Formats: sequence, structure tokens, C-alpha cells
Amino acid sequence: MLRSSSVRILAVLALVFIETLSVGSAAAWDRRVKRGELIALANCARCHAVARFGSSPLREAPPFRALHERYPVGDLAEALVEGITTGHPTMPEFRLEPDEADALIAYMKSLAN
Ligand code: HEC
Repeated sequence: MLRSSSVRILAVLALVFIETLSVGSAAAWDRRVKRGELIALANCARCHAVARFGSSPLREAPPFRALHERYPVGDLAEALVEGITTGHPTMPEFRLEPDEADALIAYMKSLAN
């Protein structure tokens, strides 16, 4: 027989569990965004504005925070891994590891809000 106190304990345990899960994934997301920021700073910032403000050092390079206005930035994942070739000679070809591409996209998404 289930007494009401054990039901309450179960409910509390379930809540704690759910909270731990969401806190855990938020922290993982933050780490990914941070890593993406470092990748952007190291590889892209000499041409693109990679922060929330400021203009691109290279005028033709779109600021990263504007990319999400053109298309869902998640769509870039494949291009980042297979090598972005914009067809513009000023942009060097990049190939990232899939987890690096994930991180970079997480960072771009973080710029969108
Ligand atoms: C040497 C300068 C340079 C560097 C470094 C550079 N880019 Fe670019 N990138 C450009 C230029 C210039 C364009 C604009 C091309 C155009 O649309 O005319 C561009 C365009 C883009 C676009 C838009 C493509 C489109 O069709 O909408 C993306 C996405 C992009 N770059 C991502 C990156 C990423 C990610 C990095 C770092 C890994 C990076 N770029 C590094 C110069 C650069």
C-alpha cells in the first residue's frame, strides 16, 4: 500500500531528478557555446564580426549575428564539416570536426537572441 507520505517523497525525488537533468544540459550547452566562441575567435574573427556588436573587419564578410536572418544557422552544420566554399575567393575553405561545427553553431544560435 502506498501511503501519502511516500507519494510525496516520490514526487520530490522526481522533481529533483528533472531539475538535475535540465541544469546539467544547460551547463553542457554553455560549454558548447563557449567552445564555439573560441573557434570563431581563432578562425573567423579576422574577417567576420563574431560578437553581438561591432562590424566585420572585412566589410564583405557578414557579421555572424546576421547569419540567422538569412537562414537557420543549424543548416550550416554540413557545410562547416564538408568545407564552406562560398564561391568567393576571399573566404578561405574551412573544414571543422563535427563537434567543432556543433559548437560553432551553438555559438551562432546564442547570438540570435
Ligand atoms: C579571410 C576572411 C574570412 C575568414 C577568415 C572567414 N570568412 Fe566567412 N566569409 C568571408 C567573406 C568575404 C564572406 C562573404 C562572401 C559573400 O557572400 O560575398 C564570408 C561568408 C561567410 C558565410 C556566409 C555564406 C553564405 O552564403 O551566406 C559564412 C556562414 C561564413 N563566412 C562562415 C565563416 C566561418 C564559420 C569562419 C571561420 C571558421 C569564416 N567564415 C572565416 C570571409 C572570411
